[in-house]
Amino acid sequence: MNLTLLGAPGAGKGTQANVLAIHYKIPHISTGDIFRRHLREETPLGQKAQEYMVQGKLVPDDITEAMVDDRIALSDAALGFVLDGFPRNLNQGKALDGMLAARGLFLDGVIHIAAPYDLLVERLVGRRICPACGATYHIRFDPPQAAGICNVCGTNLVQRPDDRLETVETRLSVYREETAPLIAFYQVRGILLEIDGTRSVEDVSQSIIQQLGARHG
Ligand code: AP5
Repeated sequence: MNLTLLGAPGAGKGTQANVLAIHYKIPHISTGDIFRRHLREETPLGQKAQEYMVQGKLVPDDITEAMVDDRIALSDAALGFVLDGFPRNLNQGKALDGMLAARGLFLDGVIHIAAPYDLLVERLVGRRICPACGATYHIRFDPPQAAGICNVCGTNLVQRPDDRLETVETRLSVYREETAPLIAFYQVRGILLEIDGTRSVEDVSQSIIQQLGARHG
């Protein structure tokens, strides 16, 4: 199963990609997470990506596309994958078509998770992440057992620098202008699943898995 998740920042792409990766036993490939890993490891790619990420802008297409092409070539993606945060504009959409066609593959489904602006802002500004193991929390919707401490590894939680309100507003406007046109791009192919992302994590997951099951058995 080759899937990608489309949706504004805060729609719940990462949260649902984790669930789908476990359910279908396929890797979760998040371009944002790969960039953040490079940043932690202080690679040249991480330093380049940071210039754009801190401003809430997209990292240039050539860098991002090469990174995804390398990632889906790894053996764990041979039986499928769930992309999270890629493609992010029409050029990346066309590039993904090329990468898949070169391997005789295609997308089985594009999952569009929708949520209103105010909810997106609340989810992003209240998100906290573990800088050590990457676990994600929310101060209101999914708090850790002990305030500010990761349940998994005990590390102090932090706010992503791009989750500050001023950067969140830029990211949401970049989404509207550059990423939202992908909805129509996939709709005409009949592979778009429309999902209401305002419900609980469990309800959203159930609805995605049901819709995929109805289409792919
Ligand atoms: P990236 O890391 O991909 O960020 P994003 O798309 O902005 O998405 P987010 O991770 O912010 O949100 P999400 O939809 O995954 O929500 P989540 O599940 O975490 O990208 C970061 C940056 O990297 C970009 O700005 C860009 O610079 C660069 N980049 C990445 N990909 C790129 C590309 N292809 N091209 C160019 N540049 C690229 O949920 C958010 C919060 O809400 C969490 O706290 C969660 O606990 C909570 N939550 C989730 N679902 C629910 C629910 N149903 N109910 C209640 N709470 C919920």
